[in-house]
Amino acid sequence: MGVLEIIKTRIEIREFEKKSVGMSAKKKILEAGRLAPSGRNLQHWHYILIEGDEELERLASLSPTGGWVREASFAIVTTTDPKYDFNEIDAGRSITQMQLVGWENGVGSRLYTIKKPDQERAKLALGIPEEYHLTAVVGFGYPVKKATGKKERKGMREIVSYNKFGTPMEI
Ligand SMILES: Cc1cc2nc3c(=O)[nH]c(=O)nc-3n(C[C@H](O)[C@H](O)[C@H](O)COP(=O)(O)O)c2cc1C
Repeated sequence: MGVLEIIKTRIEIREFEKKSVGMSAKKKILEAGRLAPSGRNLQHWHYILIEGDEELERLASLSPTGGWVREASFAIVTTTDPKYDFNEIDAGRSITQMQLVGWENGVGSRLYTIKKPDQERAKLALGIPEEYHLTAVVGFGYPVKKATGKKERKGMREIVSYNKFGTPMEI
C-alpha cells in the first residue's frame, strides 16, 4: 500500500481483537514516531508504552472519552514539553506517523486527549514529570471488524482556496 492508500483506507478503530500485537510491529510503530520531524528538530517528546490488562484498565479510568482503551492490545501515551508553543504540532506529526505505520501492518488505532482537570490526575498516575504535557493517548490493536475505509470528510471545494482565502479552486 502506498502512503495515500494507507491514508484513504485508515479509519479510527476502538473495537479490538483479543490478540496481542507482537514486538516487531510495536517497534515499527515507535520507530515511525521517533523519526518524525519537529520544530527546530528538538524532539522534545517522550512516549510511554502501556500494556497489560491492569495497566490498560487504569489508563481507561483516567479519561471520560477514552474508556475503550481497555480493549486495546497496547497504548502509547505521547508527552511533550509545553514550553515550545509548537509542541502539539510536533506531537500530532509523530502520532500520525505511528498510526499510519500501524495501519500498514494491520494494526488499527484511535486517539484521545486528556483535558483538565483529568490531566493532572493522569500525569500523577503515569509518573509524568510536572514539566511535561500529556498530549494524547493512542490505543492500538487488531480491528475486530474488517475496516471499510468509509470516511466522512468535507469536500475539497469547501476547504481549499486559490491564492486568497475564499477564492474557489478548481480541482
Ligand atoms: C485531536 C483529536 C482528539 C480526539 N479525541 C477523541 C476522544 O477523546 N475520544 C475518541 O473516542 N476519539 C477521539 N478522536 C478520534 C476522532 O473522533 C476521529 O479521528 C474522527 O472521528 C475521524 O475518524 P475516522 O478517521 O475514522 O473517520 C480524536 C481525534 C483527534 C485528532
